[in-house]
Amino acid sequence: MTLAEASPATPPLDDADLLVVRDLRKYYPITRGLMRRVVGHVKAVDGVSFSIPAGKTLGLVGESGCGKTTTSRLILRAFDPTAGDVFFKDKALGWVNVPRLDDARLRQLRPNMQMIFQDPYGSLNPRMSLLEIVGEPLLVNGVASGPKLRDRVAELLRLVGLRPEYMTRYPHAFSGGQRQRIGIARALALQPQLVVCDEPVSALDVSIQAQTLNLLADLQEKFQLTYLFVAHDLSVVEHISDRVAVMYVGKLAEVADTEDLFLTPLHPYTEALLSAAPKPNPRLRSQRIVLSGEVADPANPPTGCYFHPRCRYAVDRCRIEAPALRELRPRHLVSCHRAEDLQLQGVPA
Ligand SMILES: Nc1ncnc2c1ncn2[C@@H]1O[C@H](COP(=O)(O)OP(=O)(O)OP(=O)(O)O)[C@@H](O)[C@H]1O
Ligand code: SF4
Ligand SMILES: [Mg+2]
Repeated sequence: MTLAEASPATPPLDDADLLVVRDLRKYYPITRGLMRRVVGHVKAVDGVSFSIPAGKTLGLVGESGCGKTTTSRLILRAFDPTAGDVFFKDKALGWVNVPRLDDARLRQLRPNMQMIFQDPYGSLNPRMSLLEIVGEPLLVNGVASGPKLRDRVAELLRLVGLRPEYMTRYPHAFSGGQRQRIGIARALALQPQLVVCDEPVSALDVSIQAQTLNLLADLQEKFQLTYLFVAHDLSVVEHISDRVAVMYVGKLAEVADTEDLFLTPLHPYTEALLSAAPKPNPRLRSQRIVLSGEVADPANPPTGCYFHPRCRYAVDRCRIEAPALRELRPRHLVSCHRAEDLQLQGVPA
């Protein structure tokens, strides 16, 4: 299947990009009664668009339940979207539209898109040795077996800072940080182009977080990896991301290059997240904005701008009319009616 066959009305893709997500949606039906009548939808992902150039990192940030994991898993085609496109420039297949790929092509594509998970305890099979965990993708895809497999696993373990002698041990013998390194070695085994990192450091101690982020940055440089890096905290994505997308209840609130987003945020939600992010130098910390109220429920979102019940700048229009994501400055997109007039507080990145 060529790209043109997949989506005839598609605007041209930029060859500098590796991943282009357009108007991605995932709606889960809410059913009632014996007849399981559909009475509404949970709009977990509701019209998300972004692109990631090859070798770069996009940070995807937002509070719990805003749709980060759903977006990640749609990209990897863990399940099908309700609507939207995920264009990926595969090294062998060229541009493909992931949700429209047939099974054979999807199998070909899979090794090039890998995932690193949040939970370094739950994501590794406790009954498998490191050799089996890291070697499994190589074995299953017929890339290596026997002594060649051991050599490749040893090489992968060295790459992530683990001793090859550990190969015969089981996950329980390792700390959280070391387990995350095992997960990274497994994800890199098949030399993927894209790595989706879903909160890879959230479960780790702060000191270990920095080491893991440094390792991911080194590996990116070494292998020209492209990352989608998911986190709920802006400070985690600050150093690793070239660009950041802030998500709120299934939609994007703001997208900009990292320094621009940190210095001159245009969305009140980003301003609040920035004010909450820990800063080593307290003088650099802006006045903390406490977000009142809960994150909106995607099954029953507020009218108008979903952020309005928590926004200290909300006006009448915000309660009625939903703002669209628009490019207010070059490469800086925001969805807020008042973005032109607000002077929001940023922090030096
Ligand atoms: N299978 C499902 N059926 C119905 N609703 C779902 C399903 N999976 C996810 N959701 C809902 O979709 C929304 C987005 O969930 P998602 O896991 O993508 O959020 P997240 O941003 O990754 O959150 P977290 O930071 O907690 O990991 C949530 O409200 C969640 O309850
Ligand atoms: S549109 Fe209104 S409620 Fe929404 S973020 Fe902007 S000012 Fe706040
Ligand atoms: Mg998640």
